[in-house]
Amino acid sequence: MALPPDPFDQAVTTWKLDQLYSDLATAKREIAPYKKLGLTEVEKLHLRGLLCGYSPAEIATQLVKTAKTVEVDLCNTLYRYVEALTGRATNTLESWRDIKPWLEAAGYKAFGVGREMKLALNWGEAPDVSVFYGRQEELATLGQWIVGDRCRIVALLGMGGIGKTSLAARLAQQIQGQFDCLIWRSLRHPLPLEEVLGDWLQLLSPQPITESPSKLESQLTRLIDHLRSHRCLLILDNLETILRSGDFAGHYREGYKSYGELLQRLSQETHQSCLLLTSREQTREIALLDGRNQPVRSLKLEGLKEAAREILQAKDLSGEGQWSTLIQIYRGNPLVLKMVSTTIKEIFDGSVPDFLKQRMTLITGDINDFIEQQVNRLSSLEQEILYQVVRAKEPVLLIKLQESLQSVLPSDLLRALESLVRRSLIEKSVAGFTLQPVVMEYVTNQLEQIKQSEG
Ligand SMILES: Nc1ncnc2c1ncn2[C@@H]1O[C@H](COP(=O)(O)OP(=O)(O)O)[C@@H](O)[C@H]1O
Ligand SMILES: [Mg+2]
Repeated sequence: MALPPDPFDQAVTTWKLDQLYSDLATAKREIAPYKKLGLTEVEKLHLRGLLCGYSPAEIATQLVKTAKTVEVDLCNTLYRYVEALTGRATNTLESWRDIKPWLEAAGYKAFGVGREMKLALNWGEAPDVSVFYGRQEELATLGQWIVGDRCRIVALLGMGGIGKTSLAARLAQQIQGQFDCLIWRSLRHPLPLEEVLGDWLQLLSPQPITESPSKLESQLTRLIDHLRSHRCLLILDNLETILRSGDFAGHYREGYKSYGELLQRLSQETHQSCLLLTSREQTREIALLDGRNQPVRSLKLEGLKEAAREILQAKDLSGEGQWSTLIQIYRGNPLVLKMVSTTIKEIFDGSVPDFLKQRMTLITGDINDFIEQQVNRLSSLEQEILYQVVRAKEPVLLIKLQESLQSVLPSDLLRALESLVRRSLIEKSVAGFTLQPVVMEYVTNQLEQIKQSEG
């Protein structure tokens, strides 16, 4: 028997349906784990109807059902899944009319279908993000900033391993259809801006390179011309490599100051493109220009929440009852959780409770090198503050820190603290400043070593 024609098949070409089905199914599992896995055929049909712009009553007419049945069904299913998927609280959806714009802002509209990228598509060293958990809220926010608010620069900030690169790749994948061009570049090794610009320009308008007297200026001007005439998404991953270490103000390394000019010009001149960047550290331009009503925004990325469980699941760990504790200890940092899961698998037969019972150390495998890398980049004042917090053996109030660091100017102390908070190396609570458990253990070991070498 031939299937009846799908009344809502127009949604197939205008929306990324497969991805929507799969992401909504994940949302469904999170809020209603007792329900059947995956979207049902009815749920999919209703979704397509809404995406075609039909009201629940119109959908009901097409499907020969009562309006009430469809409305009740939507309230119990899709509306709730869409809220969860787009990072909103339950029951905040006020009308069926919200569904399309919400999903569009989250990047599910297939603008790109049937339309070729006019200029360039170059993913460079972007990672494969086919395995990607959670982050719906962040994706919705970033989608809104870039697609909805047309921001010119968006920075993803946060400590190493927290998932900046993965999130940028996932986001770029979702919204690429909105752009005429997409170029991903990683600064894993610092590259002079002239090289990056040369590379971008070559991809945007292949032509013989003619050297001009003030090369950088003319390159920048040419770039902005392109960004004005086309909508481009440029991604720069790992911007921190061109920032000076041992310095908390986000200054550039010698020879890389021109990146400041790039950011300045991209933020201030009018064009229709976006530079998405990831960095462990904030840069001065972005700190100054960032604001809710500005075309420049930054998002500080925190660890994964519930979604971190999927990492442990993928490693086949056991003792689910204590997974939340483990995730909390490592602050949901996916890279660190992967490292510790490997140890738990190898040494503790996969048992999370057994690992937590040994109270010797939290720093397994490569975690030491990983923390060392981040601490080594700190200014000496920032390092001194970490030592003070460890020595205090309890949360420290600002006033106490000030007392123990009397030779330090209060303004310097505040700036250093701010920088540490931004790097997620120090945490604030009402009781005072503290360190997350792994950093606490690392710094304690450092202090031990200093004591031993002195004594
Ligand atoms: N949302 C996520 N879901 C699954 N794995 C993730 C997620 N975010 C990060 N990871 C994994 O954690 C590790 C670190 O992520 P990455 O994006 O490289 O962090 P960063 O760029 O902040 O240093 C990678 O192995 C990555 O695959
Ligand atoms: Mg990265």
